[in-house]
Formats: sequence, structure tokens, C-alpha cells
Amino acid sequence: MTRLSGATPSGRAQLGNYLGAIRRWAAEGTADDLYFVSDLHAMTTAYNPQRLRALTREMLAVLIGAGIRPASVFVQSDIMRDLTALTWVLECTSTFGEVARMIQFKEKSAGAKTVRLGLLTYPVLMAADILLQGADEVPVGEDQSQHVELARALARRFNTTFGDVFVVPDLVVPQVAARVRDLADPSRKMAKSSRDDAGVVFVLDSPDLVRRKFRRAVTDTANRVEYRPDEQPGVANLLEILGACTGRSPAEAAAGITTYSALKDQAADAVIEELSGIRKRTLDLLDDPAELDRIRATGAAHAAERGSHRLEAALRVAGLG
Ligand code: TYM
Repeated sequence: MTRLSGATPSGRAQLGNYLGAIRRWAAEGTADDLYFVSDLHAMTTAYNPQRLRALTREMLAVLIGAGIRPASVFVQSDIMRDLTALTWVLECTSTFGEVARMIQFKEKSAGAKTVRLGLLTYPVLMAADILLQGADEVPVGEDQSQHVELARALARRFNTTFGDVFVVPDLVVPQVAARVRDLADPSRKMAKSSRDDAGVVFVLDSPDLVRRKFRRAVTDTANRVEYRPDEQPGVANLLEILGACTGRSPAEAAAGITTYSALKDQAADAVIEELSGIRKRTLDLLDDPAELDRIRATGAAHAAERGSHRLEAALRVAGLG
């Protein structure tokens, strides 16, 4: 069974990526799985090339620092010839209407002066990521589920039209921490490319900085430490984070905590503890560029070898070559 998932280096890895996705990839991953840095996806809005390259390396190091097997990781652009070829085939399998319906496209394009075409078509590239490798399961946070549904629809349509080439993948969304919210604005999900970093905890933040961000977390005036996500979203978010880091439900995590400041301190302590090992391993790896390059090259060769026969089969049945 192959699990596959990715993280986009559009910013630095944040706590939501870690609790909602990366941590689980590391814990549940097997030698058959593939996890990758989706650098091509970071080009859908304005970006700086040098920063993209640095963020790609950092994200790769975070995945390995989190405990994912080095042999299971790769960088998306290292196999981009195969991926972009398959993307074209899948673009000709999808309709304008179904990609224009994607919530993330609507959110990111709303109010923008110009919208890159890649922002519209990126879920098709994501389908290529998944289908090229024959993934059986795609573990993602809630915000990516619509894109995985698209990949499923495209696999089924292609198979029915041309022949059975693709595995129809299952979507897997975690029960806990599926949507970590911004500490400064609990109405938004925590995101690495937020304009304002005050409420975003990055995986590589120092313990001091993590504590400061939690101390400034927005709560409410109810003064009750209870798990009521609709009425108290900020408190609920802190309880979800605390619960996710300590292996308890958010309601259990609330037991014995009476003040918001105690809640913030406990959540900060739990996060600092949770991130300390990964932070150290990631920083060590970033200090050893030759080792990171070696892992990257091995991962690229492995991913290319696993996927190329599926591309060839798809091209053949689609009438190419
Ligand atoms: P990305 O980089 O936005 O996020 C990486 C993973 O982190 C999860 N996530 C969160 N989970 C909980 N709370 C949050 N606040 C939070 N923010 C992010 C995301 O759901 C995701 O699982 N397009 C994808 C990467 C990708 C991919 C793929 C994934 C590219 N190709 C193929 C699966 C299969 C993305 O930008 O994820």
C-alpha cells in the first residue's frame, strides 16, 4: 500500500502542517510511501526564486527531521518532466468548470489583480502527483480534501475512457488537528504564507518565540476553559493544539485548567516539547548540505523510477507516441 502526500514551500513549515499532516506521515509511514516538497505549487502566486530554493531545502529537511524515512522523500521539480507531461493529459481529462469550483482557487483569486493560470490548474498538477505514483491513500488536512476528490474523479474518468491505468486513491483526513487555526485570528486557518506572522507558529521557531506567540493568542471574554468551538474558537484552538500534542481529546485537555493564561502556557509547553526533537534534527541537517543533497538525489531517482511506467501507460492508451 502506497501513501503519498506533499507540502508546498510557499513559506516555512508551520504547526498546522506538522500536527495536521507531517507528524502523521512520519508516524504511519512505511517504506512504500512517498512524501514530497511541492515546489512547483509555490509558483502559482508571486514568489522570489532564491527564497523558493531555500524554502524547498528547509521543507525537505523538516520532513526528514520529523522522522520520515529519507528514502521516501523527494522534491517535486526533480521529476517535473514526467509530472508536467501527465498534467497535460489530465488537463485534457478535466473540465474548466470543475477546476474553477475549487474553494482554494476561489479564496486565493478573490480580489487579486491578476491571477496566474497555474493557480487555476494546480489541482490538476496535484492529481498528477498522486496518480503518477499509484498512491492508494492520500493523507492531507481538511483544506486539501477537495483537490484529492478531483484526483479521484480524474482517475475514474481516464480509466473509463481510455483503459485501466490509474489507482483511484482514498482520501484520509486526520481526526485530530485537521484544521489548526491562526493564534491571532482563530477565524482563519494557520497558514505558512499569512501576511501577518504573529499568530503562526513555525516548526523552527525558537522556544522563546513559540511561548510569546501563545501568550498573545486571541481568546475571548467568557473566562471559561471549555471546549466549545462555535462559541469560543480561540480557546477551542488552544485546546485542540494541547490535546494533539499530549494525545488527548480537546475536552480532556481542558481538565484542571481554570485560566486562559494557564491554558496558553500549557499549550506553549506542549508545543515546545513536541517540536524540540524535529527542530534539532532539521537544523543539523541544514548544516550538512552535502547530506541533504545526497538524500534529495536518491529520493528523486526512486520517485522517477516508481512513476515513469504509469506515465508511459497513460500516454499509450491516450493515443500518444
Ligand atoms: P500545504 O503545503 O498547504 O500543506 C501541507 C499539509 O498540511 C496540511 N495543513 C494543515 N493541517 C491542519 N491545520 C492547518 N492549519 C493546516 N495547514 C496546512 C495540509 O492539509 C496538507 O496536508 N497542495 C498541497 C501539497 C500537495 C499535495 C500533492 C498533497 C501537492 N501535491 C499531492 C497531497 C497529494 C499543499 O499545498 O499543502
